[in-house]
Amino acid sequence: MPRVSPAKLVDAFVASFGQKPTWIVRAPGRVNLIGEHTDYNGGFVLPVAIDRAAWIVLRPRSDGRVWAESLDFHAATGFSLKIARELTPSTRSHPLAWARYLEGVAWSLQQEAFALTGWTGVIRGDVPIGAGLSSSAAIEVATARAFATTSVLPWQPVRIAQICQRAENAWVGVNCGIMDQWIAAAARAGHALLIDCGRLQSHEVPIPRGVAVVILDTGTRRDLRDSSYNQRRQECEEAACLLGVKMLSELSWEEFQSRQAILPEPYRRRARHVISENKRTLEATQAMRAGNVERFGRLLSESHQSLRDDFEVSSPALNLMVELAESESGCFGARMTGAGFGGCALALVAADRAAEFAERVAAQYQKQARCEAKVYVCRVTDGAQVWPAAEAENVACLGDESHTCI
Ligand code: GLA
Repeated sequence: MPRVSPAKLVDAFVASFGQKPTWIVRAPGRVNLIGEHTDYNGGFVLPVAIDRAAWIVLRPRSDGRVWAESLDFHAATGFSLKIARELTPSTRSHPLAWARYLEGVAWSLQQEAFALTGWTGVIRGDVPIGAGLSSSAAIEVATARAFATTSVLPWQPVRIAQICQRAENAWVGVNCGIMDQWIAAAARAGHALLIDCGRLQSHEVPIPRGVAVVILDTGTRRDLRDSSYNQRRQECEEAACLLGVKMLSELSWEEFQSRQAILPEPYRRRARHVISENKRTLEATQAMRAGNVERFGRLLSESHQSLRDDFEVSSPALNLMVELAESESGCFGARMTGAGFGGCALALVAADRAAEFAERVAAQYQKQARCEAKVYVCRVTDGAQVWPAAEAENVACLGDESHTCI
């Protein structure tokens, strides 16, 4: 997927509208280091924001409307903010999936009684869609950043994350947790964010020197609206109910072990994953703080096994990728990342071996899966940002600098 150049986006805006844009906004995709399928169970997650993002260049308008062109989909959408306020989520019927995120965020912001100023914008992204890197949260949070800028709203990352999550749950129809929107809104470069999704608290954790986060894209894709994502969430809710708690993360590992016998399958395995994953995420955070990357890597591998065997959201392509990554020297550990069912794995690799690692794993995967893998070392970036459009040339470095190894 070609990297976005903000300067070229500005040119595209001028070509379409004959005027200069005022602002550039960016909201990143993410890779979750550990803590998978725990967010909607009130548990812990440890994501980072990556150097792949949704970008919007825009100009405010005063007629209460939004008009946006997507360069990725070669399509445009327009809507009145008044209609967005009055539409109910059940009338979400926009034939263009990406446009639904824009409308959903406009609707959700107005549910909080924010008075919105509309905008004209050009949108482009380089987060691969359906790959488990949160392209949807990136477009949602970029849209929120655009409205926050034109409407002079305070940027309160957690509140914005909740607003975008509501857009995705109620408008788009995916019952996701809060992780993706939170990291896209709040990330700090060079840091992972430990989020306690139950208490709505977070702590920054610096990424140790000398390690690289490598994304291993299997090339397989899924759509969360059709996948078993909502079903897994429901299974977790039923397991919690059987165990007499509101959310699975209320139970410690020891409490779960003493009570698990009452759970029929598959509820027992689902709950075991969530509760053990919470424990692993806290241990991994400690290991990262102590610079113990070997320990961190082992926890990644355990997380993968749990997602594969207990939560059953991995896939043959993801399992192969993880196996290939772990067989390479310099790799501390690997696992699938995101919702699963396809998409990407991640590996933690010694930085000085990362380029060679990426090439070797990609070649092996291609040979065995007969499918092209995209493997790249990612930079851990800031969350949502905004710049005056006149500075496009200066922000271009972030979009232009490619870390793709093959
Ligand atoms: C998707 C959802 C997140 C989270 C992950 C699994 O990315 O959007 O809220 O549940 O899956 O950890």
